[in-house]
Amino acid sequence: MRALTIRSWVGVAVASALVLFAAYLFALSSFDEATMTAPLRLQVQKFIPFATRVASVRNSHLPSLQKPLTSSTSTLHPQHNFSTTTAKMTYDSTSFKDAVKHRRTVYQLSKQSTIPDSRIQEILETAITEVPSSFNSQSARIVVLLKDEHDKFWDIVRDVLKTIVPEDKWEHTGNRIAGFRNAYGTALFYEDPASIRKLQEQYPSYTEKFPQWSEHTSAMHQYMLWTAFETEGLGCNLQHYNPLPDRKVSEIWNVPAEWGLKAQLVFGTPAEGARESLPEKSQLPIKEKLFVHGAS
Ligand SMILES: Cc1cc2nc3c(=O)[nH]c(=O)nc-3n(C[C@H](O)[C@H](O)[C@H](O)COP(=O)(O)O)c2cc1C
Repeated sequence: MRALTIRSWVGVAVASALVLFAAYLFALSSFDEATMTAPLRLQVQKFIPFATRVASVRNSHLPSLQKPLTSSTSTLHPQHNFSTTTAKMTYDSTSFKDAVKHRRTVYQLSKQSTIPDSRIQEILETAITEVPSSFNSQSARIVVLLKDEHDKFWDIVRDVLKTIVPEDKWEHTGNRIAGFRNAYGTALFYEDPASIRKLQEQYPSYTEKFPQWSEHTSAMHQYMLWTAFETEGLGCNLQHYNPLPDRKVSEIWNVPAEWGLKAQLVFGTPAEGARESLPEKSQLPIKEKLFVHGAS
């Protein structure tokens, strides 16, 4: 009787283990990490082997990226084992790694946008809300000019440049400006010195540091927007024509004269083949640039 009870318990234990193992196999074959919320993904990552996760993510999320519908830069990075394809990439679905790797400088743009203005607005709102600033100063100001307003901006830059660039150099400069004008929009990145002054009064021992941290703050906004726009298939390039157009821009778009213009991000749908023809970036050896101590 006692032997029978032990055998029954062993049977139940073996059956339970088989059911659990089958459930585990089912989970491995069916989950899609890319669509999980972050907390759920963390839980899953504890239980699902890394190699299986990578395979699963490739088989679920990335394959759609790997079949280019429009254009691809995947051949530009043969050393990277992931896709930098634009097809199906969006700001919502792209992994951070893919977004970072996909961002490039694209000069050949068109007057179209891959996304509606409402989507551009949404991305801008995320940038101005979520990108960090030193001491949470929120010193960044972004003015975005689209379509005709964008054209107006580059006309101002052209007109100012025309007065200072020697005649024999004008063709090159003029063509360059015409190239920027032939895009969909420009984001102007400003820093508000009032935020900096406030911090300097509050924390006098860092007085000299705040202007530098304000530049860092602006750069973070620039990088976030540049990367986010490119996940939506927009091409971007970063320019620095300030302070040439500053006064006129203040007048036309009501920008407080004391805000400091730091950079201009030009964006639009890349011209046909523009992404594919980007040269691969030269890279210094990683070991000359990156130093990690204490890794296990
Ligand atoms: C801080 C900063 C300033 C830059 N200024 C300019 C600029 O004034 N004009 C320009 O055409 N590109 C500018 N660039 C773009 C760089 O030349 C470009 O990012 C770099 O060559 C790497 O190429 P990638 O953007 O394709 O990765 C700037 C980039 C950074 C990060």
